[in-house]
Amino acid sequence: MRAFFWIEDDAGPREGEAIDGETLRAEGIPHARIETVGWEAPIDALMRERGYRTRDEVRLSPSTENLDTILAKFDREHLHTDDEVRYVLAGEGIFDIRSSGDRWMRVVVEPGDFIVVPKDRHHRFLLTESRTIHAVRLFEDQAGWVPHYR
Ligand SMILES: [Fe+2]
Repeated sequence: MRAFFWIEDDAGPREGEAIDGETLRAEGIPHARIETVGWEAPIDALMRERGYRTRDEVRLSPSTENLDTILAKFDREHLHTDDEVRYVLAGEGIFDIRSSGDRWMRVVVEPGDFIVVPKDRHHRFLLTESRTIHAVRLFEDQAGWVPHYR
Protein backbone atom coordinates (compact mmCIF):
# COMPACT_ATOMS: atom_id res chain seq x y z
CA MET A 1 0.00 0.00 0.00
CA ARG A 2 1.20 3.45 -0.88
CA ALA A 3 -0.67 6.58 0.19
CA PHE A 4 -0.17 10.25 -0.59
CA PHE A 5 -2.20 13.42 -0.99
CA TRP A 6 -3.50 13.84 -4.54
CA ILE A 7 -3.61 17.38 -5.82
CA GLU A 8 -5.96 18.51 -8.58
CA ASP A 9 -5.68 22.22 -9.32
CA ASP A 10 -4.89 24.54 -12.22
CA ALA A 11 -1.33 23.17 -12.37
CA GLY A 12 -2.73 19.71 -13.19
CA PRO A 13 -3.19 16.46 -11.28
CA ARG A 14 -0.14 15.38 -9.30
CA GLU A 15 1.18 13.54 -6.29
CA GLY A 16 1.50 15.52 -3.05
CA GLU A 17 3.15 14.61 0.25
CA ALA A 18 3.25 11.00 1.43
CA ILE A 19 0.77 9.71 4.02
CA ASP A 20 1.99 7.04 6.45
CA GLY A 21 -0.11 4.19 7.82
CA GLU A 22 -0.67 5.84 11.18
CA THR A 23 -1.90 9.07 9.60
CA LEU A 24 -4.26 7.06 7.42
CA ARG A 25 -5.66 5.34 10.55
CA ALA A 26 -5.96 8.70 12.29
CA GLU A 27 -7.99 9.85 9.28
CA GLY A 28 -10.39 7.00 10.04
CA ILE A 29 -9.24 4.53 7.40
CA PRO A 30 -8.59 1.07 8.91
CA HIS A 31 -6.09 -1.02 6.95
CA ALA A 32 -3.93 -4.10 7.41
CA ARG A 33 -1.56 -6.47 5.61
CA ILE A 34 -2.69 -10.08 5.31
CA GLU A 35 -0.70 -12.79 3.52
CA THR A 36 -2.39 -13.85 0.28
CA VAL A 37 -1.44 -17.48 1.01
CA GLY A 38 -4.06 -18.79 3.45
CA TRP A 39 -5.99 -15.49 3.51
CA GLU A 40 -9.42 -17.04 4.23
CA ALA A 41 -8.98 -17.67 7.97
CA PRO A 42 -7.69 -14.19 8.89
CA ILE A 43 -10.29 -12.53 6.64
CA ASP A 44 -13.10 -14.58 8.20
CA ALA A 45 -11.81 -13.61 11.65
CA LEU A 46 -11.86 -9.93 10.61
CA MET A 47 -15.41 -10.37 9.32
CA ARG A 48 -16.63 -11.70 12.67
CA GLU A 49 -14.72 -8.99 14.54
CA ARG A 50 -16.13 -6.14 12.43
CA GLY A 51 -19.62 -7.56 11.86
CA TYR A 52 -19.46 -8.19 8.11
CA ARG A 53 -21.80 -10.98 7.11
CA THR A 54 -21.01 -11.91 3.50
CA ARG A 55 -18.11 -11.83 1.10
CA ASP A 56 -17.60 -12.33 -2.60
CA GLU A 57 -14.79 -11.90 -5.10
CA VAL A 58 -14.54 -9.48 -7.98
CA ARG A 59 -12.18 -9.75 -10.94
CA LEU A 60 -11.66 -6.90 -13.38
CA SER A 61 -9.27 -6.91 -16.33
CA PRO A 62 -9.04 -5.43 -19.84
CA SER A 63 -10.94 -8.53 -21.07
CA THR A 64 -13.89 -7.89 -18.68
CA GLU A 65 -17.02 -7.21 -20.69
CA ASN A 66 -18.21 -3.58 -20.26
CA LEU A 67 -15.17 -2.73 -18.11
CA ASP A 68 -15.48 1.00 -18.80
CA THR A 69 -19.18 1.00 -17.91
CA ILE A 70 -18.46 -0.81 -14.65
CA LEU A 71 -15.62 1.57 -13.77
CA ALA A 72 -17.71 4.64 -14.64
CA LYS A 73 -20.05 3.83 -11.72
CA PHE A 74 -17.27 4.27 -9.19
CA ASP A 75 -14.79 6.75 -10.66
CA ARG A 76 -17.04 9.70 -9.71
CA GLU A 77 -17.03 10.90 -6.15
CA HIS A 78 -19.62 9.03 -4.07
CA LEU A 79 -20.33 7.48 -0.70
CA HIS A 80 -22.15 4.42 0.63
CA THR A 81 -24.30 3.97 3.72
CA ASP A 82 -22.23 0.84 4.53
CA ASP A 83 -18.46 0.41 4.75
CA GLU A 84 -16.64 -0.41 1.51
CA VAL A 85 -14.30 -3.22 2.53
CA ARG A 86 -11.74 -4.72 0.19
CA TYR A 87 -8.93 -7.25 0.35
CA VAL A 88 -6.68 -7.43 -2.70
CA LEU A 89 -5.56 -10.85 -3.95
CA ALA A 90 -3.96 -9.74 -7.24
CA GLY A 91 -3.51 -6.64 -9.38
CA GLU A 92 -3.89 -3.10 -8.08
CA GLY A 93 -6.48 -0.45 -7.40
CA ILE A 94 -6.67 3.20 -6.43
CA PHE A 95 -8.92 4.55 -3.71
CA ASP A 96 -9.16 8.33 -3.58
CA ILE A 97 -10.65 9.13 -0.18
CA ARG A 98 -11.52 12.56 1.22
CA SER A 99 -9.44 13.58 4.23
CA SER A 100 -10.95 15.33 7.26
CA GLY A 101 -9.86 18.58 5.55
CA ASP A 102 -11.61 17.53 2.30
CA ARG A 103 -8.37 16.86 0.41
CA TRP A 104 -7.93 13.75 -1.71
CA MET A 105 -5.88 11.01 -0.07
CA ARG A 106 -4.80 8.58 -2.78
CA VAL A 107 -4.31 4.99 -1.58
CA VAL A 108 -2.83 2.53 -4.08
CA VAL A 109 -3.66 -1.01 -2.94
CA GLU A 110 -1.73 -4.14 -3.92
CA PRO A 111 -1.95 -7.88 -3.18
CA GLY A 112 -2.20 -8.44 0.59
CA ASP A 113 -3.78 -5.05 1.32
CA PHE A 114 -6.97 -4.90 3.38
CA ILE A 115 -8.74 -1.54 3.51
CA VAL A 116 -11.98 -0.10 4.85
CA VAL A 117 -13.55 3.02 3.33
CA PRO A 118 -15.96 3.91 6.16
CA LYS A 119 -19.64 4.48 5.45
CA ASP A 120 -20.62 8.08 4.65
CA ARG A 121 -17.06 8.93 3.52
CA HIS A 122 -16.72 10.42 0.05
CA HIS A 123 -14.36 8.48 -2.23
CA ARG A 124 -13.85 7.16 -5.74
CA PHE A 125 -12.22 4.06 -7.15
CA LEU A 126 -9.92 3.80 -10.18
CA LEU A 127 -7.74 1.12 -11.70
CA THR A 128 -4.03 1.58 -12.36
CA GLU A 129 -2.52 1.35 -15.84
CA SER A 130 -2.65 -2.47 -15.78
CA ARG A 131 -6.45 -2.23 -15.36
CA THR A 132 -6.44 -5.49 -13.45
CA ILE A 133 -7.61 -6.36 -9.95
CA HIS A 134 -8.83 -9.44 -8.10
CA ALA A 135 -10.32 -8.49 -4.77
CA VAL A 136 -12.49 -9.88 -2.00
CA ARG A 137 -15.46 -7.67 -1.06
CA LEU A 138 -16.84 -7.87 2.48
CA PHE A 139 -20.36 -6.71 3.21
CA GLU A 140 -22.46 -5.98 6.23
CA ASP A 141 -25.49 -5.91 3.96
CA GLN A 142 -25.00 -5.99 0.20
CA ALA A 143 -28.17 -3.88 -0.23
CA GLY A 144 -26.59 -0.93 1.59
CA TRP A 145 -23.73 -0.87 -0.84
CA VAL A 146 -24.93 1.44 -3.62
CA PRO A 147 -23.20 4.64 -4.72
CA HIS A 148 -24.63 8.02 -3.70
CA TYR A 149 -22.92 10.67 -5.83
CA ARG A 150 -21.65 13.91 -4.35
FE1 LIG B 1 -17.48 3.11 -3.46
